[in-house]
Amino acid sequence: MSCDPSVFSRIMYHPLLSNMNCKGLVSLTLLSAIFVAFISTQIHILNQPSLKYLLDLGFAIFTPLAITTPNIYSHHNIHRGKKRPTSICDKFPPNLPPADTNTTAFLCVDRRGCCNFTTVQSAIDAIGIASVKQTVIWINSGIYYEKVTVPRTKPNISFQGQGYDSTAIMWNDTANSSRGTALSASVSVFSDNFIAKNISFMNVAPIPSPGLVGAQAVAIRVGGDQAAFWGCGFFGAQDTIYDERGRHYFKECFIQGSIDFIYGNGRSIYENCQLSSIANPVPPGSKGISGSITAHGRASSDENTGFVFLNCTVGGMGRVWLGRAWRPFSRVVFAYTFLSDIISPDGWNDFSDPTRDQTVFYGEYKCIGEGANMTMRVPYTQGLNETQASPFLDISFIDGQQWLQPYQ
Ligand SMILES: *[C@@H]1O[C@H](CO)[C@@H](O)[C@H](O)[C@H]1NC(C)=O
Ligand SMILES: *[C@@H]1O[C@H](CO)[C@@H](O)[C@H](O)[C@H]1NC(C)=O
Ligand SMILES: *[C@@H]1O[C@H](CO)[C@@H](O)[C@H](O)[C@H]1NC(C)=O
Ligand SMILES: *[C@@H]1O[C@H](CO)[C@@H](O)[C@H](O)[C@H]1NC(C)=O
Ligand SMILES: *[C@@H]1O[C@H](CO)[C@@H](O)[C@H](O)[C@H]1NC(C)=O
Ligand SMILES: *[C@@H]1O[C@H](CO)[C@@H](O)[C@H](O)[C@H]1NC(C)=O
Ligand SMILES: *[C@@H]1O[C@H](CO)[C@@H](O)[C@H](O)[C@H]1NC(C)=O
Ligand SMILES: *[C@@H]1O[C@H](CO)[C@@H](O)[C@H](O)[C@H]1NC(C)=O
Ligand SMILES: *[C@@H]1O[C@H](CO)[C@@H](O)[C@H](O)[C@H]1NC(C)=O
Repeated sequence: MSCDPSVFSRIMYHPLLSNMNCKGLVSLTLLSAIFVAFISTQIHILNQPSLKYLLDLGFAIFTPLAITTPNIYSHHNIHRGKKRPTSICDKFPPNLPPADTNTTAFLCVDRRGCCNFTTVQSAIDAIGIASVKQTVIWINSGIYYEKVTVPRTKPNISFQGQGYDSTAIMWNDTANSSRGTALSASVSVFSDNFIAKNISFMNVAPIPSPGLVGAQAVAIRVGGDQAAFWGCGFFGAQDTIYDERGRHYFKECFIQGSIDFIYGNGRSIYENCQLSSIANPVPPGSKGISGSITAHGRASSDENTGFVFLNCTVGGMGRVWLGRAWRPFSRVVFAYTFLSDIISPDGWNDFSDPTRDQTVFYGEYKCIGEGANMTMRVPYTQGLNETQASPFLDISFIDGQQWLQPYQ
């Protein structure tokens, strides 16, 4: 089996199907397995294993994948035959956190207690208000079961994980349990200039059955300006990413969801990302729809917000729209993107409000795959030409030349 993206996205949600030829796939599949194991506890598919059991399971699965750094202490063990007591921190990467510089401060988080902080939130709490330094929170492999907030008063914070298949922040609030969809977020970022690299954000609340209210469960809320996500994972079902407001960039990310799984009124580019639907399968012959990838919330023509997908792949299960018009001027563009047959042939939806057909901006440009066939699209879909597409095709759409630093 190859690592073809369409194959990849089709098998993502089957945790037991792994492909030994694709190393990345194996570990990502395991992370999905953990996601499925967690949500299964809620719907009682497994023998109701305790949360602790699952955390340990998650950790056991993660650990072998996590050891990528050489064990610098190994020579000690054979040193003159003297047995050095082994400690869980023996394999801890040396020289962490790195020394602070004039422009960057480092904090270190390890779940097992091998450095200063055991939770991500405690590291954030230790950062001073309005620091002009960039603070990098280095987060070791593992699942951090906590709800995290980066307050508006603390700009310039970075999360550096060890890979989105080995480092995750996870919680399980729902709209009901937290008094509002936005408040259900496992991680909420309100500050500007936030960066996350190689880490996953997960909400493992039960996947809502169709029509259930109050079960929305956000994995991350991005409410600050100038945020960048590199090589990150986002796991949830309904409302996975609340791309609330501000200019955001997501590159090489994995995003899993079912209904409106990227929603909000952000101005964002998603580039080279994999979008994986876990919406309910639709019986053959049925015209039913079980989800939507986006629900963009642009409220007036004065706003310059919108979601742009560049060179992404969309796959998984269910039958989903590319977007539905959460608010009248909803704006979404898919360009150079592989769309599998999970995309409903009509493509887009006006949220049962035909007046929105005149005001939404739903564009498609040079997409490929069975789901990219535009023959049956709703009439307000725009098949863009080069001139029309060009404002959306590079980082100038989010003023990236002013603030977006290259990955380093
Ligand atoms: C860092 O700050 C110190 C003290 O202000 C200064 O002496 C040093 O030159 C600075 N280093 C760099 C690389 O800017
Ligand atoms: C982290 O731990 C090191 C050594 O244990 C200590 O020198 C340093 O001050 C600690 N940093 C913070 C921010 O607590
Ligand atoms: C920190 O944040 C402030 C305000 O958002 C910004 O002006 C400054 O350039 C940032 N500093 C760094 C090092 O990114
Ligand atoms: C989150 O998980 C905990 C532990 O399994 C459980 O007690 C709690 O009810 C869950 N919350 C929601 C909203 O499902
Ligand atoms: C949320 O609360 C409403 C009203 O109490 C209830 O009808 C609904 O079933 C709840 N949803 C979930 C997922 O618990
Ligand atoms: C971290 O993310 C970057 C950007 O997507 C990627 O190139 C790199 O391979 C990732 N590293 C790990 C350890 O996952
Ligand atoms: C498109 O995405 C794929 C996989 O994510 C990547 O290998 C390829 O380099 C990307 N193409 C461009 C032009 O960025
Ligand atoms: C696109 O869809 C139409 C209607 O379902 C079909 O007739 C046509 O063959 C399709 N085109 C391609 C290239 O698959
Ligand atoms: C693109 O479409 C617009 C609007 O229909 C039209 O005015 C323009 O001439 C087209 N440009 C090209 C290069 O086809």
